[in-house]
Amino acid sequence: MPTTPRVLVLHGPNLNLLGARQPEIYGAATLDDVNSLLLEKAVSAGWEIDCLQSNHEGVLIDAIHAARLDGTLAIIINPAAYTHTSVAILDALNAFDGRVIEVHISNVHKRESFRHHSYISLRADGVIAGLGIQGYLAALEAIIRTDKK
Ligand code: DQA
Repeated sequence: MPTTPRVLVLHGPNLNLLGARQPEIYGAATLDDVNSLLLEKAVSAGWEIDCLQSNHEGVLIDAIHAARLDGTLAIIINPAAYTHTSVAILDALNAFDGRVIEVHISNVHKRESFRHHSYISLRADGVIAGLGIQGYLAALEAIIRTDKK
């Protein structure tokens, strides 16, 4: 019997404050809103989804390691500020065989120059920036449509 396909969604530091933190940049929706929309979409497509937010680099890395072993087919990751600093998250993603889509709520290329470089993009199969929280749903849509069940 085929197992249910699984996707992991990782949210990096400070994204627990979504809706309250700089709403002029990140919008009014909360992280719970984002995760509920993702859950609804995944379940209706017959996928399992796990959503995890952490302010700690190692917790995100441990979740990527676990995804290598539990049959997860794809990872959607908004590494937040770790995008611009974390060789360790890049290395962890390089050890994951499935698809990786990097999402940013804001258009990082329109912002400060230190946000223009992403370590994670060296591994990501796709990158979405500047679509607000719709970027997460676009990433999930792409995974559902193109990853084999
Ligand atoms: C972000 C952009 C990053 O530069 C920033 O550090 C974040 C959020 C985004 O979703 O637009 O925390 O990843």
